Amino acid sequence: MPIEKVGVLGCGLMGSGIAQVVATAGYSTVVKEVADEFLKKGMGAIEKSLSKLAEKGTITSDKRARALERLKGTTNFEDLADCDIVIEAITENLQLKRETYSTIDKIVKPEAIFASNTSSLVITEIMTATRRVDRFIGMHFFNPVPLMKLVEVVGTIMTSPAVVDEAMKFATSLGKAPIRTADRSGFVVNRLLVPYLLDAIRALEEGVGSVEDIDKGMKLGCGYPMGPFTLLDFVGLDTTYYIANIMFDEFREKRFAPPPLLKRLVLAGHHGKKTGRGFYDYSDPANPRPLF
Ligand code: 3HC
Repeated sequence: MPIEKVGVLGCGLMGSGIAQVVATAGYSTVVKEVADEFLKKGMGAIEKSLSKLAEKGTITSDKRARALERLKGTTNFEDLADCDIVIEAITENLQLKRETYSTIDKIVKPEAIFASNTSSLVITEIMTATRRVDRFIGMHFFNPVPLMKLVEVVGTIMTSPAVVDEAMKFATSLGKAPIRTADRSGFVVNRLLVPYLLDAIRALEEGVGSVEDIDKGMKLGCGYPMGPFTLLDFVGLDTTYYIANIMFDEFREKRFAPPPLLKRLVLAGHHGKKTGRGFYDYSDPANPRPLF
């Protein structure tokens, strides 16, 4: 079945990015949020991102306009009924994801593929809320979605191989470079990235170096685009803490255990760039000030 119409659940940071790349790639796209205010915010982010890409010449202004024409926002699940694939990017909460999938399973046509953008939850555990376990996959995008090339395509023990192939083809059609991964918490990237980020915090706690020096070390010593603390603040400390806890639950290995400083920052509401404070202070966004 060819993919022509795509549904995206959630228009937050990841959902809006996914809806944007899908619409830009030429698909008729419906993005669903729980309330108009969230939809408005997400659509605003999409328009801003498309304008930036057009300004830089990455896309033409005509392509920007056509992407926006193909994009429809909604707060009704019913508008997803005739989608060929639905990609879910709602809050990383297992119960909420299961409830949402159970609802849309009754609404969306049975031959449609369901894909979850979860970064660390086990796909098998989400999938069992539906009756289409053979047509359920993970499709994990990376932040910022319009710029990052990778998509992890996750097949479970129940996923039909043809559905995995279809998802690989679909991700490629979005201009992304997909990889196949097994349904193990964190897949490939977070399995390696999360222990690295947590270890940077442990190194800071042990006095190995300052935030600025550790960031500089990894940027200039390894050629990483961002140092670990800049990346932690970018991804969100609350998100990292949440992912680390899920991975620790799954593997019971110390390398996934969130360090005390991360927990303290999250408890204090310092969630990184989005709250204006994490390992850096973003009062002057052009010149983040290291706090440790
Ligand atoms: N849409 C359009 N343009 C965007 C954008 C977006 N969503 N986000 C950033 N840009 C723009 C910037 O505004 C900037 O524009 P400017 O040149 O006019 O200022 C431009 O893109 C490029 O930015 P910069 O030149 O300042 O920075 P870089 O060349 O370093 O590229 C980056 C930015 C691609 C974000 C790069 O720093 C990078 O690759 N960082 C690492 C990101 C990363 O590791 N992401 C994965 C996180 S983990 C994850 O997502 C998994 C999850 O499960 C946790």
